[in-house]
Amino acid sequence: MDEKVEKIIEQYQGKPGMVISVLEKVQEDYGYLPQEILKQVSEKLNVPLAQLFSMATFYSAFSLTPRGKHIVYTCLGTACHVRGGARILKGLSHQLGIKPGDTTEDRQFTLETVRCIGCCSLAPVVKVGDDVYGYNTADKMRSILDNYKEQE
Ligand code: FES
Repeated sequence: MDEKVEKIIEQYQGKPGMVISVLEKVQEDYGYLPQEILKQVSEKLNVPLAQLFSMATFYSAFSLTPRGKHIVYTCLGTACHVRGGARILKGLSHQLGIKPGDTTEDRQFTLETVRCIGCCSLAPVVKVGDDVYGYNTADKMRSILDNYKEQE
């Protein structure tokens, strides 16, 4: 068994909500829930693999595929759509070379779309991780993402 997984399980052994806590920690450490790791968790905790998969697909915080370090959420809600949200998405998709739902090969960025993140007055809005950017243009987004790349 993967030593890292063993440590995660030890950390939460016997605690309430242990299975979710273990999955959360695996997601945090690996950036997603690798199938091989889920198998190990299933065996060690004696929880059916199917149950882990259904938890993994039910909770939006979990992903079964690798995710980028930065999740880029492009808002396509009504206010953002009217103010060019689709154009922003097209620009981001072009800049990152991926489609919505995909992750860049270097695992730096995952591109997602959302329906309103509650700051319509700033439309069109893009959220990178927890940072919200408003009044966007394709050029502005290009330099914002460049800044994230430079932080590496
Ligand atoms: S529609 Fe985009 S923030 Fe509300």
